[in-house]
Amino acid sequence: MKRNILVTGGAGFIGANFVRHMLESSDETRVVVLDSLTYAGNLENLSGLDEGRLKFVKGDITDSAVVDALFVDEKIDAVVNFAAESHVDRSILGPKAFIETNIMGTFVLLEAARKTWTSPEALKSCRFVHVSTDEVYGSLGDTGYFTEETPFSPNSPYSASKASSDHLVRAYFHTYGLPVLTTNCSNNYGPYQFPEKLIPLMVLNALDGKSLPVYGDGKNVRDWLYVTDHCKAIEAVLDKGRTGETYNIGGRCEMQNIEIVKLVCKEVDSLIEFDEGLSLRYPYEKPRETLIKYVTDRPGHDRRYAIDCDKIERELGWKPEVTFEEGMKKTIEWYVTERAWWEKILSGEYLKYYDAQYGNRG
Ligand code: NAD
Ligand code: TYD
Repeated sequence: MKRNILVTGGAGFIGANFVRHMLESSDETRVVVLDSLTYAGNLENLSGLDEGRLKFVKGDITDSAVVDALFVDEKIDAVVNFAAESHVDRSILGPKAFIETNIMGTFVLLEAARKTWTSPEALKSCRFVHVSTDEVYGSLGDTGYFTEETPFSPNSPYSASKASSDHLVRAYFHTYGLPVLTTNCSNNYGPYQFPEKLIPLMVLNALDGKSLPVYGDGKNVRDWLYVTDHCKAIEAVLDKGRTGETYNIGGRCEMQNIEIVKLVCKEVDSLIEFDEGLSLRYPYEKPRETLIKYVTDRPGHDRRYAIDCDKIERELGWKPEVTFEEGMKKTIEWYVTERAWWEKILSGEYLKYYDAQYGNRG
């Protein structure tokens, strides 16, 4: 089906991977990206794409004039809402932007859809997919899984703002019959992820021989999903999901943080051992594990996330395809090849934030 999809936050990590995936998966799709290019947005994430079917608009999802006009001018019949402030540590340092973008921004998008999709045909054929996180469910003990019925219990300003937006989306279905769907996904990793998140941060620091800051005892558990698997799940929800429903998405891949950091160290050691050219570019004599440094824990640090994704597997036939081992290999290779991409980030504003958080990266 021919569609004009509004992808908010399409210049960020998952959004950009999704735009790439959608333009490849169907010639019929036209994508309009709305992104305000915060520190996490990067136009280079969209480079090399078919400009005939992709339009980029720099703008804020909280700006109702911009959003309302886009819905009409671009004949938007599907929305995939990625735009968000997405980093827990930043939400602890300064929650305001999270409230504004994640809650107010989602509200503005919902209102635009409600005002524009008024005919019975539009309500039948249009779709509003809201991309959210498993963090809304709070923290698990050693056992159990989050299902779509698990009550929300968010513990950080980030997860509280996402939970709040999820509730708004739900309310627009029950109150106005808006054709919405929500996805709650576990931790993603892969190309284009901003290097403040665990995996890229550890990869870059390991490559450069910098210290590897592990919060608390390093035994917090996350479920990990390779980003293209997440994109395919969102596509399945957009195409086949039942409106008003929420779908949990996960990789069935629980790992302790320290296991991941050690795996990164091993991969980087072997990469350097077998490639003389690289070892000159990434000098460090000792095994990378000696760079691990346990640091003060994050306040309110959720202990364990684990996702039951039976519903999307059963109803929509989606399954994760990339194993953690394959995904990590691809990810590390990507960061090795795309040094220019991250060196630019590390030479800008982000370095000041990094140094304030973790001490001098050098
Ligand atoms: P990201 O931080 O890499 O990208 C966010 C993008 O949104 C950036 O391009 C930024 O410029 C843009 N943006 C921020 N505020 C905006 C605003 N007011 N108006 C317009 N654009 C704005 O985030 P990500 O990791 O790609 O996450 C995307 C979405 O997926 C988020 O909603 C997040 O909550 C959700 N999610 C992320 C993960 C994960 O592991 N990264 C897991 C589950 C769900
Ligand atoms: P993060 O990538 O920030 O994702 P989230 O907090 O949304 O799960 O962190 C993943 C896990 O890694 C989390 O338990 C916090 C931990 N962590 C560290 O131990 N050190 C770090 O430098 C970072 C960024 C995260």
